[in-house]
Amino acid sequence: MYKRMSLLERNGIPGPRPHLIMGNMYEYYTRGYNDCFERWKKQHGKIFGYYLGAKPFVVITDPELLKVIEVKEFNHFFDRPYVVPGGLYRNPKFHQQLYRVNRVDQDKWRAMRQSMSPWFSSLQLKSMVPTIVQCADDMVKLVAPLAQSNQEFNLYRVFEGVTMDAIHRTAFGVNTGAQKVTDNTPTTGDTNTLMDAHRATLAAKTSEMLASLVLCLPELSLAINAVRDIVERVCDKLGLNQDVLLWESVEKIVNTRLTQRGGSTGPYRDVLELMIAANRLSKTEIVANAIAIDEAAFESPANNLGFIFHHLVNQPDLQRRVYQELRDELVDSDGNPTHMDYQSLNRLPFTDAVIMEAFRIFPTDPLFMSHSPAGDYRYGSVTLPAGVDIRVPTYQLHRDPEYWEEPDVFNPDRFMGNSLKSVNPYVYQPFGVGPRMCPGKRFSVLEIKIILAKLLLNYKVVPGDKTEPIGGLDLEFKLFSLSPRNGISVRLEARN
Ligand code: HEM
Repeated sequence: MYKRMSLLERNGIPGPRPHLIMGNMYEYYTRGYNDCFERWKKQHGKIFGYYLGAKPFVVITDPELLKVIEVKEFNHFFDRPYVVPGGLYRNPKFHQQLYRVNRVDQDKWRAMRQSMSPWFSSLQLKSMVPTIVQCADDMVKLVAPLAQSNQEFNLYRVFEGVTMDAIHRTAFGVNTGAQKVTDNTPTTGDTNTLMDAHRATLAAKTSEMLASLVLCLPELSLAINAVRDIVERVCDKLGLNQDVLLWESVEKIVNTRLTQRGGSTGPYRDVLELMIAANRLSKTEIVANAIAIDEAAFESPANNLGFIFHHLVNQPDLQRRVYQELRDELVDSDGNPTHMDYQSLNRLPFTDAVIMEAFRIFPTDPLFMSHSPAGDYRYGSVTLPAGVDIRVPTYQLHRDPEYWEEPDVFNPDRFMGNSLKSVNPYVYQPFGVGPRMCPGKRFSVLEIKIILAKLLLNYKVVPGDKTEPIGGLDLEFKLFSLSPRNGISVRLEARN
């Protein structure tokens, strides 16, 4: 046991002293990983390690080494390891998702990525603009009664609804009514089954306690995983696992499309058509990846929009500056909105900088990037042992005073003009870098910009009693993502 818990030390990787059975699990879960990383980085430097049970992790904030791992030696570091051996989620169908594919299935990963990639091209994105604009227009109409009654509400819930609406319409060609529960109620706190299912699957699972046992007692993992399978199956039968609902809803959409032989319903080829037409993916893989896209598109863009509006509502000057740029580019001299298209949306440098700065100060996916070396890898005085779980902690990279002046200050100008050119892509990487980087990056930024523009051109966003101030936003670090815990509370005032 001692040998196992000294693996990192023997390989020159410093870190907090581990307990013989739990490793650093107690501190990790009681203080939260972000707090731990802050302290461990200060104490141990740019490369440090810790243990969850017996499982070793290495956290890297050295941009040169990140370049090696994410790009130069990508094949050696291809694997995206499971947090828990055997997977945190036991449902084997979900293991067919692009981001769960491992080294053994590298060809499958390439086939999946290639089949989806045309959907993310500039040509496709250009033709999606009218559909996303339509979703944003619906959002503007849905919040109108809240503005009229001067009601304070949770804007973050509205962003969850509109971003989900946009992905359903553009990627799957269906209108699921994600923005409203009834005909005229925006999703400002009400329930919507598909969204609830997403929230539940992204949060803790029933068998998480058992998953921790696998980490602490790896020798018993076969037996514990068998019990986890049984627990999961019973929960499925009792309807306690929301991922079953998620699977069934998406499978229904895929079945319809398979009978229609994949034809898209919009002016562009949607992602279901592309996956079906590629003829290389099984139905299970198509459904699993449709859910992966849905999951990715549900949380992260809404989180970024939430973080942007946290700053805009608290900083009227900042809001005015963004509004002015939007007016100059998207409204004509008579005050009428001009056609919002791909070209005009690409002429908003300050708005772009605000989006990028929000991704810097609050990276929405601070622990999603992970790699595992196929064999021992020597780098200076440390060796990254084969199979170790390497994490790229974007929150720490994005606030490192070595690379950022006043890192805790929201300053979009660091992404303007010449300053933008000096940003190191291995230090600033909200979407990752290299072959595995997020394919949804450009879609996300486009959608965020459209939603932001539509909202600000129609409404001034003002604080309410529950608006959290700058420096006082309660953050929720989930397994991989970062959200505003209490949402974003605001009031809206119509512009005209
Ligand atoms: C704010 C928005 C988003 C952020 C910050 C984000 C961030 C990320 C990050 C950090 C990764 C891991 C990259 C790596 O391992 O190097 C990732 C992977 C991925 N993202 Fe996103 N994402 C966002 C939105 C989206 C959207 C809208 C989609 C789909 C429409 C999407 C689809 C994916 C997929 C499929 C992967 C897995 C790629 C692979 O393993 O090859 N993401 N994302």
